[in-house]
Amino acid sequence: MVHFGATVFYTERSFFGPAATGRPLASGVRSAFMLDEGTAQLERSDPFTLFDAWYGDAWASERDANAMACATADAGGAPSVRMVLLKGREGDGFVFYTNFGSRKGLEIGGNPRASLVFHWKSLRRQVRIDGTVDTVDEGAADAYFASRPRDSQVAAWASLQSEVMPERFELEKRFAHFELKYKGRSVPRPPHWSGYRVRAEKLEFWLDRPYRLHERIVFERASKDWHVTRLYP
Ligand SMILES: Cc1cc2nc3c(=O)[nH]c(=O)nc-3n(C[C@H](O)[C@H](O)[C@H](O)COP(=O)(O)O)c2cc1C
Repeated sequence: MVHFGATVFYTERSFFGPAATGRPLASGVRSAFMLDEGTAQLERSDPFTLFDAWYGDAWASERDANAMACATADAGGAPSVRMVLLKGREGDGFVFYTNFGSRKGLEIGGNPRASLVFHWKSLRRQVRIDGTVDTVDEGAADAYFASRPRDSQVAAWASLQSEVMPERFELEKRFAHFELKYKGRSVPRPPHWSGYRVRAEKLEFWLDRPYRLHERIVFERASKDWHVTRLYP
């Protein structure tokens, strides 16, 4: 159930642009500034239905549609950001996999909040997601790990992600060690490697419009419903 803060009607006269003069636009001509029905409809959507629709569009147009920046902060509030890959959405949860001993893992451990941002360049769209972080079920993590190429599974054991590596040869030695260790049998998921789920509390959909008069539609969780607002670009 989606809750809307206000019902907004856009007419040629209530919005600025050439139509604000009160002069009717020539038939078939729309002001570049005006919302069309498509964009006005965005704010009537459920945020996850809208995300899925945009994500589907992105898969058709982008090379790495699932690449997203993921920002975390340490206990003192200092931020850090890196790219990760979205591997699934479970309800309000956006899932990515990583090493829990990495910088992001340690930061999430002490401060379980994250912000995500997708930029789908050729669509000229951005989606921002803020929320709390929890971990995916062990069974789901095992199933995803089992679906990965064997060398990636071995690499998950070999990499001490974000720790200082004296030389690359150390990584190669560790890879060879675990390759041998699991030779002839399946590679189990390392206990330190699993999925984080960012539980969305706030989502912002940004859509490029002419003259930098972009659309920004924000969905914020308000108890069971979503409160929808627009922001100045
Ligand atoms: C496009 C792209 C996708 C990436 N996906 C992941 C990912 O899903 N999981 C991951 O742990 N690292 C991923 N990385 C590497 C991270 O950006 C980062 O280098 C690594 O996770 C260590 O980050 P940290 O030290 O901040 O924890 C990706 C990098 C790029 C450029």
